Amino acid sequence: MATDKERIDYLRKELHRHNYNYYVRNEPEISDKEFDMLLKELEALELQHPEYADPNSPTQRVGSDLSSGFEQVRHIYPMLSLANTYSIDDVDAWVRRVDDALAGEQSTLVGEMKFDGTGISLIYEHGRLVRAVTRGDGQVGDIVTDNVRTIRSIPLELQGEGWPDFFEIRGEIVLPWKAFERLNEERIAAGETPFANPRNAAAGTLKLLNSAETARRGLDAYFYYLLGENLPADTHYDNMLLAKSWGFKVSDAMTLLHSIDEVDKYITYWDTERKNLPVATDGLVFKVNSLRSQLNLGFTAKSPRWAVAYKFAAERALTRLRFVSFDVGRSGIITPVANLEPVLLSGTIVKRASLHNDDIMKALDIHEHDTLYVEKGGEIIPKITGVEIAERVQGSSAVEFPAVCPSCGTRLIRNEGEAAWMCPNKYGCVPQIVGRLEHFVARRAMNIDGIGEETAAALHAHGYVNNIADLYTLQAEQVEKIEGFARKSAQRLIEGIRESINVPFERVLFSLSIPYLGETTAKKVAKATGSMDKLMSMSAPELEAIPDVGPSTAKSICDFFADPDNCMIVERLRLSGLQMESAADEQPQSDTLAGKTFVISGVFSRHSRDEYKKMIESHGGKNSGSISSKTNYVLAGENMGPAKLEKAAKLGIPIIDEDTFLKMIE
Ligand code: IVH
Repeated sequence: MATDKERIDYLRKELHRHNYNYYVRNEPEISDKEFDMLLKELEALELQHPEYADPNSPTQRVGSDLSSGFEQVRHIYPMLSLANTYSIDDVDAWVRRVDDALAGEQSTLVGEMKFDGTGISLIYEHGRLVRAVTRGDGQVGDIVTDNVRTIRSIPLELQGEGWPDFFEIRGEIVLPWKAFERLNEERIAAGETPFANPRNAAAGTLKLLNSAETARRGLDAYFYYLLGENLPADTHYDNMLLAKSWGFKVSDAMTLLHSIDEVDKYITYWDTERKNLPVATDGLVFKVNSLRSQLNLGFTAKSPRWAVAYKFAAERALTRLRFVSFDVGRSGIITPVANLEPVLLSGTIVKRASLHNDDIMKALDIHEHDTLYVEKGGEIIPKITGVEIAERVQGSSAVEFPAVCPSCGTRLIRNEGEAAWMCPNKYGCVPQIVGRLEHFVARRAMNIDGIGEETAAALHAHGYVNNIADLYTLQAEQVEKIEGFARKSAQRLIEGIRESINVPFERVLFSLSIPYLGETTAKKVAKATGSMDKLMSMSAPELEAIPDVGPSTAKSICDFFADPDNCMIVERLRLSGLQMESAADEQPQSDTLAGKTFVISGVFSRHSRDEYKKMIESHGGKNSGSISSKTNYVLAGENMGPAKLEKAAKLGIPIIDEDTFLKMIE
């Protein structure tokens, strides 16, 4: 009979292998259900045996809810960028320069995809992942190991053999198209701004403070660069194949190229074929294969001479402007939108493209009926990039931003320092009222079923619902009068509304449509304040002390509660029974540390780092990953890094130990 320890080791090994088969090879050997059973068994054993805990266990891939700021570290080798080229001729010229520099020998090159995500550096010691660091400024990056551990295709423990005891591998973290589309659908449904492209989505997801959310979003990673003192092979290509055998995802598009002709063919092929890949790419990369030649060629200050990027041209089309519409959002912001003659661009038909704001529209100098360039490069949302002046209709006039709201006729205002024009008629302008209603009932907000765009508009048009508080006095008999509803469905809708009073405070807060207060920030604000009353009494500087709350959000919250109409709605929601306080276990304990920013460093004996972080937050303080002039205290344990000590001393920031800290919050 195997001991528990042996069973744990066995299960971990098996689960790592099945993860690899599923996420890297795309060839699972067992069903999802069988996988889950093995995982559950391991979870149970680990729970019984905390002494065998291991951050690299497959059970740790789900992430945790504990938020953590990011610590920073200097890269062992700086993370440089690549020189860009935009044409086959430029790439050919680079190949010739390389050959000349290497005394006229024709060198073998490696062609690769340029993945459009966010760069990552992973450190492995004795075959185990020990650290993951973002590019940062190229010299110093953020440690994001917890989040990276959740990426199923990244090996936490290597398989096979021949890996150096200590090495670094670099690659790109990407959000595959499918996961990107799903994430954006969710964000739109929740009234949040969708990500413009998978690159931004990947970078944002990697830096989330909640690794459980990172795990859920479905990141992936491709690797393209092995670094270290004793690399196993003397060519880039062979090293990458070895890395593949240790469990890393290395793209099958990586190919050896032996001549300029082969390079050109590679470019022509992938220029179109890349559209069939599951992830976004923004170009190709060519590298000299021999490591010795790489060494001879060396680096410029910014990039290696032994590699070059070829960037795909953004896809562009010309089409005629039908008219510019001015959309009114739920917060009153007016967005100019170019309505176009439909045109095919990168596989989708484009009919509308945002012109963002007055300044951008003016800079483009768009006239009525102009012929416009539409582009869809790395950006998924099509962009107007210019006007074809030769096609301009003689005597046509420039498109003007309206002075009054296109929906309700109220004079528009533009706040100082803001790019947007706004309609201030919050409670009289239909698209704002209906937009807020739609946001209020959304799944991630109050989660009330049965009210889509049309029903929200109909409830308002019938005069039943003028603001979100009116929902709670709505009668089934009224709903029945709306087209598409019968007795049963009307009653169900009313029941759904009544049930929503149990939705937690943090989501009530998010549901209010306070500009700048997104889902994540609303959570943090709810956690830090504990109740609507406390929040309503806070000043902008006090609000800014809450993690994630910047000056714009703080001002927006204050402005919101300074408006008596908003306060009345909140009061009516309170009377209807909505949650205006956090649940007891989430209540902050005190505000002893309000306005104070802490950096935690080192190893502690009385509580864990995460416990200290939680304590700081529950007493009103803020955690940060790096020391700056804004830091008030460094909470230091054993083995605090010398660089941090020096920085704290230089800035004159008090360094306190755990006993002193515990006394502070007593
Ligand atoms: S090699 C010293 N190979 O592009 C250069 N980079 O503009 C090492 N990238 O920071 C980078 N795909 O984040 C390399 N196949 C590939 C790549 C790639 C994407 C990214 C990477 C890098 C940036 C350079």
